[in-house]
Amino acid sequence: MERAVRYARRAWLTAATFALAAAMAGCAPSYPMDTLSDGSDYAQKIHWLYIFVNWIDLVIMLIVVAAAFLAIFWFSTRVGEPGEPSSVTSDLRLEVAWTAIPTLILVFIAVPTIRIIWQTQPYTWPSDALDVKVIAHQWWWEFQYPQLKVETADELHIPADRMVHFELESADVIHSFWIPALGGKRDVVPGQINEITLSATQIGEFYGQCVEFCGTSHANMRLRAFVQSKDDFDKWVKHQLSPPVTPDSGAAAAGAKVFADAPCAICHTVRGISGFSKEYDGAFKAPDLTHFGSRTTLAGSILVNSPQDLAMWIRDPGKVKPGAKMPVLGVRGDDLNDLVVYLESLK
Ligand code: CUA
Repeated sequence: MERAVRYARRAWLTAATFALAAAMAGCAPSYPMDTLSDGSDYAQKIHWLYIFVNWIDLVIMLIVVAAAFLAIFWFSTRVGEPGEPSSVTSDLRLEVAWTAIPTLILVFIAVPTIRIIWQTQPYTWPSDALDVKVIAHQWWWEFQYPQLKVETADELHIPADRMVHFELESADVIHSFWIPALGGKRDVVPGQINEITLSATQIGEFYGQCVEFCGTSHANMRLRAFVQSKDDFDKWVKHQLSPPVTPDSGAAAAGAKVFADAPCAICHTVRGISGFSKEYDGAFKAPDLTHFGSRTTLAGSILVNSPQDLAMWIRDPGKVKPGAKMPVLGVRGDDLNDLVVYLESLK
């Protein structure tokens, strides 16, 4: 009787532990960097494989746990109880079986795994694919759309349901490009072009992050990906191609002068007004600001694009993003306010 009570208590504790684990696994809210999203064909394939392997794992785990419980509770003997330990030391059939079965399971998992590895390689892509050149810098992302003549920073825009062919280059050290919800992760290696092709399937805003240690502000090298409908994407492109705002009076006009006089314009470009290529040898490039005001974030997507955050960034970039290549320019007071008004006006 006492033994039955002990078993019942153990069984109850075990069931409670499993229930708690299941509840914890089930109550995960949606995270912007969720690796189990189905944001692209690429992500869907990885997700399918993950679930497939997990079901196999679950069955194996249940069998192993059941066998362990059987061994513990069924075949155990206690002090004072009669019983002799088994004297079997080997069994050829058993050994063949527990070598062959795992081998077969591994082959069963390897076949779809290898197939998906091949399917997610950028070997071919349709001729109407959108090319996006991704250039990783310490510590921000440059996005160029060679077919569209668009250039932007930190915020990637792509149309849904169209193959995108990313060409990944580095301006300095090794980085790694990853937007978890869209799948593919690739290292960005200096002197080499790596590629990813994927077709986004979910409209929305997704977070990305550099995932290869690349220096002091590696953790601050983030990005946003905006997957848009074809119409919205075309509108965005049209807007990006439009000339920048050129204020002729007020704080914005004063700010434009500060922008040109302070060394901002040496590294940053506002198309038609200044250009890093004209003024600088190209050793260091900073984000194109032509339509800066239309971006939602700044400084490697770590700050929200607001006048307060922008002023904080300009005042002391290294304080916001340790190691930032942008120097303290010493722009203060009214000059700083005007500069912020001007930059925010660059919608
Ligand atoms: Cu770039 Cu880490």
